[in-house]
Amino acid sequence: MTMQEKALRDTPRFNDDVVRLFTLATIFWGIVGFSAGVFIALQMAFPALNIEPYLNFGRLRPLHTSAVIFAFGGNALFATSYYVVQRTCRARLWNDGLSMFTFWGYQIFIVMAALGYVLGVTQGKEYAEPEWYADLWLTAVWVAYLAVFMMTMVKRQEPHIYVANWFYLAFIITVAILHIGNNLQIPVDIRYDKSYSLFSGVQSAMIQWWYGHNAVGFFLTAGFLGMMYYFIPKQADRPVYSYRLSIIHFWSLIFIYIWAGPHHLHYTALPDWAQTLGMTFSIMLWMP
Ligand code: HEM
Repeated sequence: MTMQEKALRDTPRFNDDVVRLFTLATIFWGIVGFSAGVFIALQMAFPALNIEPYLNFGRLRPLHTSAVIFAFGGNALFATSYYVVQRTCRARLWNDGLSMFTFWGYQIFIVMAALGYVLGVTQGKEYAEPEWYADLWLTAVWVAYLAVFMMTMVKRQEPHIYVANWFYLAFIITVAILHIGNNLQIPVDIRYDKSYSLFSGVQSAMIQWWYGHNAVGFFLTAGFLGMMYYFIPKQADRPVYSYRLSIIHFWSLIFIYIWAGPHHLHYTALPDWAQTLGMTFSIMLWMP
């Protein structure tokens, strides 16, 4: 093999354009989300800053939390997952067009959601406020994301699947299940933004916090752990201390996290056994 062939083999071409766009979007939404945080903090000190009705605290607080988690955090997860999966699989992203669709599709979802917040269009579910039309759009974007990520892994040139990809994949799949489960709603009419949940009463509360807790567990934890398993060893210039421990970490986190949601509903109408189960699994979560 000539030097040139070797170089070509060792430096597969990656799709970094979409990674760059997601990185820029992360910075942009970070500035928007943190500014909203500063503004709502000021509103608490100076209530006169509540501009009714569009920019009052009640609408801007969830705008802040969703902007920092889903717009800032979400774009960071897209950017790094696309960066990491290409390098650890030694494969270019599966489909350039579809990966670009995930970029614009996700930005459109963020704008749709943000408009809903200020206009007062909401399902009233914390961290799942966007109404049915935005939920459906996000589902399409997320399926495309799963396809791009999964197919890149399928066509990998590296036989081994590095642990970072396990975490990213768990994040993508679980968020899809949570999103669909918690957003099973029936619109009042196809022409209206309002919809009603399939669940009511304590079942609705349980589904909501199964979703809400695992949004933290899989979006903000599993996804970001995927990021860390790649970038920390890279920065430290040494492999993870124990690869076996990282696999135990993965399975214990995935298995235990999903049961902890009921701890958001202590001393409510939720049956005691379910509260106890949620509490026990929350304590067990020290392990991963
Ligand atoms: C300049 C930066 C930030 C400022 C000034 C800020 C400010 C605030 C304020 C004032 C609240 C409402 C507190 C209340 O209602 O009592 C809040 C809530 C929250 N913020 Fe931020 N924030 C910032 C950055 C972030 C970041 C980076 C994240 C996560 C990625 C974040 C996530 C949240 C969450 C999850 C809540 C809701 C907490 C709860 O309900 O207990 N914030 N923030």
